[in-house]
Amino acid sequence: LSLVEREQDLAGLHVVVSTGGTREPLDPVRYLGNRSSGRQGTALARAAADRGARVTLVAAHVDDGVLEDAMSPRISLVRAGTTADLGEAVRTAASGADVVVMAAAVADYRPAEVADRKLAKESSPGARTIELVETEDILAGLGRDRVPGRTIVGFAAETAPTRDELLERGRRKLARKGADLLVLNEVGWSVGFESASNAVIVLGADGDVAVEASGSKRAVADAVWDAVLASRMDRPA
Ligand code: CTP
Ligand code: CA
Repeated sequence: LSLVEREQDLAGLHVVVSTGGTREPLDPVRYLGNRSSGRQGTALARAAADRGARVTLVAAHVDDGVLEDAMSPRISLVRAGTTADLGEAVRTAASGADVVVMAAAVADYRPAEVADRKLAKESSPGARTIELVETEDILAGLGRDRVPGRTIVGFAAETAPTRDELLERGRRKLARKGADLLVLNEVGWSVGFESASNAVIVLGADGDVAVEASGSKRAVADAVWDAVLASRMDRPA
């Protein structure tokens, strides 16, 4: 499709996109975080807005300048720090939404206890053990509490040695999450995170490859929205 033809093909849809990395506090000055820049999710939000959707962008920690570059009058921004905050914000925004895309890099664990004073070396000389507990799985929750007509899209960043293994891991994850689409992203130390471009395979609910795309994060974002539209046509509300 040309740019002009698909210009407003998401008009009338309300989409929610989460982006960035959640941070789990350890004490008043420290957290457990990850290297997500928030660029892919933010590009998804901008692409949807440019194609006519109303967008709620739920942003955890993102790199400086990323959000500013992507803002549009059709995007409303909600900030969230921790996984619990992000879960709340996504569920609130998702009520009445047509599509929810979980592009955020969500912490899998959080410290079991948050110290109310800065942890001092003196209190644990030589080594320190920090107990972690699992966070809630926001995407799996959305997959469980399905609403007719709502499309749920997950992301998975995997480090698999072969394409087959990548697809196999993706299929298992898709089933575990109960999502309609899973955007599979192979990451290493130099690909995906913190980089300007990306390569993804989008799996449909049946586990088949729906779309493959590579290039700028915007190009990948447009391909993901194409896959969302196609899956909504296959299974109308
Ligand atoms: N996700 C989520 N809540 C979590 C963890 C992940 O909503 N607590 C979402 C992510 O936003 C992403 C998808 O689930 O859309 C897959 O995340 P990923 O980290 O690949 O999957 P996990 O289930 O956490 O499995 P693992 O990290 O062990 O591969
Ligand atoms: Ca994870």
